[in-house]
Amino acid sequence: MCELLSGFIVFEGLDGSGKSTQARRLEARLKAERDVILTAEPTDNPVGQLVRKVLRHQVKTTSTALALLYAADRSDHLFNPEYGIRRLLDEGKTVISDRYFYSSLAYQGVTEDFEWLKKINSYPYSEYIIFIDTDASSCIQRIEGRGEEKELFDRIEYLEKVRKNFIRVFDNLPEGVKYLRVDGSLDIETQSKIIWDFISR
Ligand code: TYD
Repeated sequence: MCELLSGFIVFEGLDGSGKSTQARRLEARLKAERDVILTAEPTDNPVGQLVRKVLRHQVKTTSTALALLYAADRSDHLFNPEYGIRRLLDEGKTVISDRYFYSSLAYQGVTEDFEWLKKINSYPYSEYIIFIDTDASSCIQRIEGRGEEKELFDRIEYLEKVRKNFIRVFDNLPEGVKYLRVDGSLDIETQSKIIWDFISR
């Protein structure tokens, strides 16, 4: 059996899928009954900040270096002795993360060797995965609607490949991981209700 981080909930989805909204809503609801921390990858820590500079085209590097940066950011996110996820879980907290290593397999999997990515991301699985499955064209529309600068991966052809990779990863999860796919075209309230039913079961 694989190592599984109990009490760790991960939201995944394409850019613009609505996953961050659902992660925040779940956090708000869980807060009433337990100690919960909402976090995200890339993180705000030094390596995560470097990743964001690459995404905003402020720093140029290779796709291989970027894959390694995501994995390094994740190692710190998980195992930092002061604020790492493992420590928070050990203290009895519930941790929700907006993205985790499944994103690396899906996004970096478009350009990098899948087995290599699995190796550099051989981190423990989360107990829960909630995949907000929104089609790539709706995601691009939402990103454009926000009026923000497009980031590195915000192209429809790329996101379509990422979605396929996500599905491949989630079709092959080890036993024990609790997985929910949510139809991202449903309204926000309906999605939240489905997620709540799943988590509180
Ligand atoms: P995103 O969740 O969109 O962050 P924010 O909402 O703060 O902008 O993540 C930023 C981008 O990074 C997004 O395009 C997905 C990509 N990404 C990867 O390619 N690999 C990874 O391992 C992670 C965590 C994110």
